[in-house]
Formats: sequence, C-alpha cells, structure tokens
Amino acid sequence: MHRILVIDDDLTVRDLLETYFTESGFSVAVAESGPQGIEMLTSEKFDVFFVDLVMPGMGGIEVLRKTGECSILTPAIVITAFAEVKTAIEAMRLGAFDYITKPFILEELLITVNRALNISKLKRENVMLKKQLRKKYNFEGLIGVSPQMHKIYDLIEKIADTESTVLITGESGTGKEVVAKTIHFNSSRSQNPFIPLNCAAIPKDLLESELFGHEKGAFTGAINTRIGRFELANEGTIFLDEIGELHPTLQVKLLRVIQEREFERVGGSRTVKVDVRILAATNKDLEKAAQEGAFREDLFYRLNVIPLHLPPLRKRKEDIALLTDHFMQVFCRRKKKDLIRIPHETMECLLSYRWPGNVRELENLIERIVILNDTGVVMPDDLPERFHLGKCEQANAEVSGSSVQTQTGMSGTSSGMFLPAGGLDLNSVLNEFEKNLILQALDRSGGIKKKAAELLGLNRTTLLEKLKKKGIELRSSDKIPS
Ligand SMILES: Nc1ncnc2c1ncn2[C@@H]1O[C@H](COP(=O)(O)OP(=O)(O)OP(=O)(O)O)[C@@H](O)[C@H]1O
Ligand SMILES: [Mg+2]
Repeated sequence: MHRILVIDDDLTVRDLLETYFTESGFSVAVAESGPQGIEMLTSEKFDVFFVDLVMPGMGGIEVLRKTGECSILTPAIVITAFAEVKTAIEAMRLGAFDYITKPFILEELLITVNRALNISKLKRENVMLKKQLRKKYNFEGLIGVSPQMHKIYDLIEKIADTESTVLITGESGTGKEVVAKTIHFNSSRSQNPFIPLNCAAIPKDLLESELFGHEKGAFTGAINTRIGRFELANEGTIFLDEIGELHPTLQVKLLRVIQEREFERVGGSRTVKVDVRILAATNKDLEKAAQEGAFREDLFYRLNVIPLHLPPLRKRKEDIALLTDHFMQVFCRRKKKDLIRIPHETMECLLSYRWPGNVRELENLIERIVILNDTGVVMPDDLPERFHLGKCEQANAEVSGSSVQTQTGMSGTSSGMFLPAGGLDLNSVLNEFEKNLILQALDRSGGIKKKAAELLGLNRTTLLEKLKKKGIELRSSDKIPS
C-alpha cells in the first residue's frame, strides 16, 4: 500500500485529503506544520507528499528546500491557492513534482498522485540501475562500457586472484598501468605492496641493482646494502612496465626469477627467495620481437601466460562519452568549477577523432578544457586544431565517396605528424596521405581535374596517372568534362 503524507495547517484540507485517499486505497498520514512534516519525512518512508505553499512559520518552499538538502527522493505535490501559481512554479524549480490549485477536483488529485508514483518508481529503478552499472562498469577506477572492456573486466575477475603472470599489451595511454593496479587490488595480495618499475627509464647497469638490489661494495658507490624492487614487492605484486626494453642479460635473470622465484643481489652470493606476483606491460609486439630474436622467446612465453590486450580508444567508441563525462566530473570537482556541458556536435568531433594518445590524451584534453573554459559549454571550435583536421579529412572522404582514413594519425600532433608507438609502414602511409590530398583537391575543384592538378602543383597528365595508379574514380555526378 502506498503511503501519502499531507502537510497543511488547514484542518479541512487535511481531513478532505485523508478521507479521499484512504478510500482510494492509500495509507495517509498528516502533519499540521512544516517542521513536523520534515520530521516525518526524514524518519518514515512515504511514496508521495502534499505540502501547502502558505503556512504560518514555515511555508512549502522552505519545506522543499530543507527536504532537498536531505535529498529525500519522495515526490512533492504543492497545494496552492489560484493566486499563488507563480510561487508554485518556483516550487517546481526547487524539485516539486507538480502543483494543484484550490479548490480541488479530487479525481485530478488522484491522477497527479499516480503519475508521481510512476515517475518516482522509474527514478528509483534508474538509481538502482546506475548502482549496478557502477559495480559492473567501474572496475576500481577502470571505466568503460564497450564490449571490449566487458571482456577485460571478465578476464580481470578471473585472473586477479591467481598467481599467474600477465602480459598487458596496448598502445600508449590505453590504461595498461590502471589494469595492472586493478589486478593487484582485486587479488589477495592487495594489502601488500604494488611495486611498479619502468624498465625503459633506467640505464641497464642501474636497472639490475634496482630490480635485485646490491650488496655493500658491489660497485663503486655501493656504500650500503640496498634491497631491490623484487624484495620490496615481497608478498605483493611487481609491475614491470615497458618490458620489451629489458636488456638481454637482465632477461636471463628475470627468467630465473619467474621460474624459481629466487635471485642474488648484485655483488652478492646469497640466494634471496621472494614470493612475488609478476605483471608486465609493453606497447611493442613482443611476440614478433621474440620471433625475430630481439626478445628471448622463452621469457616471452613465461610472461605471456595470460595475455591481456587493451584495444585503442578509437576501436571502442562507446567508451569515449563515458570517459569524457568521468574526467569532466573529476577535473571540475578538483578545480571547483561547475560542470561544463559538451553539446552533441562537440561530442561528434570527439567520437570521430583518432585518439593516438588514447585515454591519456582524452584525460589531458578535458583537463585543459576545464582550465580554459569560461562559458560553461564546449563548442567544436573550442577544441584544438587536430580535432578539426580529423573531421575535415573524414568529411572529404565521405564527399569523394571513398573511405580514406589516415591510418597514422597524421593529424595527431601540433606539428601535423604523429609516429604511432608501434611504428608504421611509411610507403603505405605516404600513399594514403597522397590519395587523401588528391581527393580533397578533386572535391574542392568540383571534380575538374585541371583545377585539381593546379591545386596540387601537378600537371594534368601526372594527376591522371596518379588517379589511375591509385584506382580513384570520380562519381558519375562529378564527371564534369575536364
Ligand atoms: N579505462 C580507463 N578508465 C579510467 N581511466 C583510464 C582508463 N584507461 C586509462 N585511464 C587513465 O589514462 C591515463 C593513462 O593510463 P595508463 O598510464 O594506465 O596508460 P598506459 O597504457 O600505461 O600508457 P603508457 O604506455 O604510455 O605507459 C591514466 O591517467 C589513467 O588513469
Ligand atoms: Mg604505462
């Protein structure tokens, strides 16, 4: 049975509503003042409440303000005299569900109450859904709703609390370190240290001592015995980032640690035993490096017990809006600013962009927007130039009826060039680049080849040759005699 509270100082109104709604199958409680109503609302559960706009002491507006502060989810219906309708609208701005004017038509009251009940049910479902979503899609700071991220959540759930070594791969900024932390903090080692080490950031000689520690006097400058990261990570997890950069001699030593969980400190002879979970990451194709002899094959297989690949952001567009929203909230809160709105057309730009720097690039962009924006809304023109280049390329590709996309993120940096972490095939990139510019020139010249050739600084014959070689055909509508 739904419960209704009537807050009104007028006894006749209280009686009327109590009788009518009790007869209609509701359970009704009454309060004769604002403060009494608030007290009942905060201590008992009601499905909907009526509140009179004008009451001595504390009026309806004040009640709404107070209940809003304690964020009571119960919908409010304001009772008002006809002359006070303006104030009633103000009440709706404060979150009231609706208002009714005296004298009442009781059937209309019932309709309003039922409508309020339906909406609040939907709202509650929504809140619940969001909670579930958060549980499912916000895996300890990992955000994403794409099918690819779902698979990653499932995998993390399965492997987190095991001892298996995980090789996390993915382009720069895709979240390899966040994933490593998520694995650690979802394992039974979570109370013990998570020790990251970037293998590319430390010179080889120092890296060995960094990893395994050294004994006093092991080398010039080794004044004291020092324990390394493996010992620091004892009973916890070590995260070896950029493992592809590990020097061959250290690859051998690491292989032994993985197999035996033991090593010697630099300059020492005593064998140190550790209990460490090993996670590694790389943005290189380590398998290929292993096949080519650039990385020890046996070590690769030891590391790659569980491969976890993070797809680039451009391949999981569903996540872009969610991550944008997340970073917007984080930075606005941090910089104490009101939320900045991103309208549809700006979101389109974000969605069609290639994101060579992946999630990190998105995070940096939003931080920059939050610092610079003072209008409260981000228009496409407020985005850095590279976003417009991307859009322009796409628009032209569409106009030309070809699906040319620069595979390289040509528009990825302010200098206009971006070398992807995994390298590229220069010939095919240049080929695509050339094709794209030719298509743009044809588009701008309305398909007139002579003009297009001029725009490109070529003579017409050279352009024709290029068109033929690249298999570019003009759409019939573009075939204006040239
Ligand atoms: N799914 C995600 N949800 C929330 N934040 C993310 C996600 N993925 C990445 N980030 C954020 O993006 C930034 C880059 O992530 P991270 O450092 O883990 O990337 P990476 O793959 O290790 O990059 P690199 O190869 O350059 O070291 C971090 O600030 C991280 O918090
Ligand atoms: Mg990293």
